[in-house]
Amino acid sequence: MSSMSKVAILGTGTMGRALGKGLLNSGVVDASHLVGTVKHEHEVAPAADSAGFSVTTDNDEAVRGAGVILLCTKPRAALPLVRSLAEAGSLSHGPLLVSIAAGVSTADLEEAGGEALRVVRAMPNTPCLVQEGMTVVCGGSRSSVDDLSTAESLFRPLGRVRRLDEEHMDAVTGLSGSGPAFLYVIIEALSEGGVMTGLPRDVATEMAAQTVRGAASMVLETGRHPAALKDDVTTPAGCTISALLSLEDGRLRSVLARGVQEAARAAAGLGESVD
Ligand SMILES: NC(=O)c1ccc[n+]([C@@H]2O[C@H](COP(=O)([O-])OP(=O)(O)OC[C@H]3O[C@@H](n4cnc5c(N)ncnc54)[C@H](OP(=O)(O)O)[C@@H]3O)[C@@H](O)[C@H]2O)c1
Repeated sequence: MSSMSKVAILGTGTMGRALGKGLLNSGVVDASHLVGTVKHEHEVAPAADSAGFSVTTDNDEAVRGAGVILLCTKPRAALPLVRSLAEAGSLSHGPLLVSIAAGVSTADLEEAGGEALRVVRAMPNTPCLVQEGMTVVCGGSRSSVDDLSTAESLFRPLGRVRRLDEEHMDAVTGLSGSGPAFLYVIIEALSEGGVMTGLPRDVATEMAAQTVRGAASMVLETGRHPAALKDDVTTPAGCTISALLSLEDGRLRSVLARGVQEAARAAAGLGESVD
């Protein structure tokens, strides 16, 4: 893939650094064409050291001449920042804004950024840090098919990418955005079960994490329904069916599904408060 023209990452925190590193490592953008920003002066040096590209607090300077702006601040900072860039005339060259801010709509970003701004919204997750991410992208009212392809090329080096309509973005946030946290709790709980039955903790954690990874790969690589794969492990009168019934007694299935539903509900309100 040919290297992109200048890319500005506004908000070089956890996600901004992960995305920037992915862009550099995959050759999608050259280090000399990548600049990040942070809010606080004292965060500039640590962010630049960890990110591997230049970082500043000057958002207007960072977006000057940038073909793509990746907006990676917390949701409540997103609209005020885009509005201030528009008021300073810094978006008049018509860049593509790719926002990962949860709960902030393309319509609100377009309104804040003015008529020259094209917007694509994306929802990645933290496993992007190890190139095992899941990202969903959707276009705004002024973005083109090429803009969506450009946005996808930013995230593809970091894992899987899918295109969906914007109406699904809160659900995406609740499932794949928040999902890693749910699975860390599950991995911790599974390893506690191993510790309870006599395994050393480090061994139990490795086994739990690899088992989750293996099960996920079985779903993705075979394309079979998870229920069918579960049936393969379930010998009549065996230990697995015995444990599955005890998990169902604890309502594991509805607790997890309701967790996703609750995260999606909360995501819908994230962009509403303004600094
Ligand atoms: N974390 C996740 O799992 C996840 C998953 C999917 C999507 N997201 C989305 O990713 C976004 C960032 O999350 P994060 O976890 O990476 O947050 P974070 O680590 O707190 O990073 C936020 C960054 O934004 C900077 N910032 C704040 N205001 C700014 C401004 N006016 N100008 C320039 N930079 C500014 C902060 O700088 P200072 O350090 O100087 O304050 C910090 O570097 C959020 O909108 C979230 O919805 C997160």
